[in-house]
Amino acid sequence: MDKTNDTRTIVIDPVTRIEGHAKITIRLDENGRVADARFHVNEFRGFEKFCEGRLVWEMPGLTSRICGICPASHLIASAKAGDDILAIQIPETAELLRRVLMLGQWIQSHALSFFHLSAPDFLLGFDADPATRNLFGLLANNKEFLRKGIRLRKFGQEIIAILGGRRIHTPWAVAGGVRDPMSNEEHAAIAAWLPEAKATVLEAIDVMKSVNDRYRKEIPNFGNFRSLYVGLVAEDGSFEYYGGGIRVMDGMGNTLADRVPPREYARLFEEKSEEWTYLKVPYYKSFGPAEGMYRVGPLARLNICDRMGTPLAEAERRTFRQLAGEQETVNNAFFYHYARTIEMLFAVEEVERLLGHPLIRGLHVRARAMINSMSGVGACEAPRGTLFHHYEVDENGVLQKVNLLIATAQNNSAMNRTVRQLAARYLDGKEVTEGLLNRIEAGIRCYDPCLSCSTHAAGSMALHVVLESADGTILDERKR
Ligand code: MG
Ligand code: NI
Repeated sequence: MDKTNDTRTIVIDPVTRIEGHAKITIRLDENGRVADARFHVNEFRGFEKFCEGRLVWEMPGLTSRICGICPASHLIASAKAGDDILAIQIPETAELLRRVLMLGQWIQSHALSFFHLSAPDFLLGFDADPATRNLFGLLANNKEFLRKGIRLRKFGQEIIAILGGRRIHTPWAVAGGVRDPMSNEEHAAIAAWLPEAKATVLEAIDVMKSVNDRYRKEIPNFGNFRSLYVGLVAEDGSFEYYGGGIRVMDGMGNTLADRVPPREYARLFEEKSEEWTYLKVPYYKSFGPAEGMYRVGPLARLNICDRMGTPLAEAERRTFRQLAGEQETVNNAFFYHYARTIEMLFAVEEVERLLGHPLIRGLHVRARAMINSMSGVGACEAPRGTLFHHYEVDENGVLQKVNLLIATAQNNSAMNRTVRQLAARYLDGKEVTEGLLNRIEAGIRCYDPCLSCSTHAAGSMALHVVLESADGTILDERKR
């Protein structure tokens, strides 16, 4: 083998314990150092093309089927794009109910990420035996904590089931509002969960803080770099998840764009096709593809907002912000987990606040109109980050063009950079160690990528690692 031309590629496929199926390639340079890393999303389901020719009123029900993990987020983004096309103001009760649904989605999804997918690493350690470093291993040692996590996730699922009538893929939200108001029984059923949910989330935050402490030495290698941060903020600059405008902040805390109406998203972001992935990789337009890498989701949302609108979450946000140290933003991907637990607390408090709103049980929940605008954009904060649905229609509401901008695509560049950083730190010569694989997986899981948004259903949970030379010769291969 010609040593000077020894460019090797390590492939990790699929990443275990993240939803869906993906592949990671690490390319080494001729000196055996990490040159590049890519997180491949192999198959876009073609939903954008598939939706052309459908009616705008069908879209919420249709697009909620894109993903089994975050259907309610697609439902709301789609209904909002429909509102924009009808050019109407939806009834206030409808907005309150949509907000409750979104928070149910956050609780369900964040609890899954924290308790089920990441807790095995946190509580059992990155170097624990892979045979036990999973949910079952966790169950043996942390049964009560895990039970509470399962219950918390169930609370989120219950909210979606109660409002939507069906656990997933619910067509409950529609252009103009929602289909059904909230009954007294439904209100009482959701309210009854709140004390338990709040206690569990507070415990999760405590666990998270001890995890941050325990991994003090490792954390600086977990996607620790400045990037831009993107998300929605309310009119007063506070934390937002349903309405508001787009804020773009840099990794030093400078605001680059603020409260930009979601309808103008294409002015801010460009989507670039790469030959190695079907997912288009978006970037902040005025900075170009290289400098314009940005992150969305819990870390971004906690960085960009001026404050959170609920008291306990706001107190935690202030503690979180101290992690920034000399810098103005928290730039370490490991702290996505911490941000996620704070968002769970916000979600529980916010559901409580919304249930106390005098209009929450109002009966007027849907406004009707014909097509008043030939295009519409709906945006909301999905659990993993800002989600955009952009539709163009004809005068009958038949879709001519669809563009979806999902959180996992927006985080793609940062995930690559995170894998590169971890591989550079933990890759030891030519050996693909268990410890390296574990950390790469853990690095990707910080972002909680929602692969079922962009790929077919979950594949095998096995791990496959291939070490290749530049000409495709397999030098090393590992499966588990
Ligand atoms: Mg798109
Ligand atoms: Ni999804």
